[in-house]
Amino acid sequence: MVRIRRAGLGDLPGVAQVLVDTWRATYRGVVPEAFLEELSYEGQADRWARGLRDPTWPGRLFVAEAGEVVGFAAFGPDRASGFPGYTAELWAIYVLPTWQRKGLGRALFHEGARLLQAEGYGRMLVWVLKENSQGRGFYEHLGGVLLGEREIELGGAKLWEVAYGFDLGEQKW
Ligand code: ACO
Repeated sequence: MVRIRRAGLGDLPGVAQVLVDTWRATYRGVVPEAFLEELSYEGQADRWARGLRDPTWPGRLFVAEAGEVVGFAAFGPDRASGFPGYTAELWAIYVLPTWQRKGLGRALFHEGARLLQAEGYGRMLVWVLKENSQGRGFYEHLGGVLLGEREIELGGAKLWEVAYGFDLGEQKW
């Protein structure tokens, strides 16, 4: 049985492990190796703890829990993408490789999108690395509309990201 629920501080070691392990599995050969190696469980757990402990933090963090955390997703206000109407953003969504393609990504997406819609957000976007065909396939399958692209710097490398947009009223997911 897998539960999708809001995350608490006690979940953060699990969230950090999912993030680091899934980043390494997904982005090897895309993101510079040194950057992936420098990611640490402690560093990521601290980063999310700073958010959860801060009452002004605008994020909403969800986990997929099957005894331990096997996936998570973070949502919040758009971080200045400049696409009119897209006031909400899916900041991150990661499911451990052994748990992928079992419906958890969709379930996490659904919970976050439903909450944002209930809070009055109309549209949500997500940025994904252009080379991440797995992530892009997922967003396209859920009905995401390609909005545009941008260049970013990660670990000293220049990489392209693309944005997908979702109308939260449509609830296709
Ligand atoms: N191509 C086409 N369809 C897909 C793909 C794909 N690559 N991945 C999933 N789907 C479909 C599934 O078949 C399923 O369809 P159905 O419900 O109609 O049968 C639907 O999308 C939902 O799939 P889930 O099983 O819920 O997807 P999953 O649990 O694997 O989660 C995710 C998707 C989050 C992309 C996961 O695979 C993952 O963590 N991948 C690696 C990390 C990643 O790319 N994260 C996103 C980075 S961008 C960001 O975080 C903002």
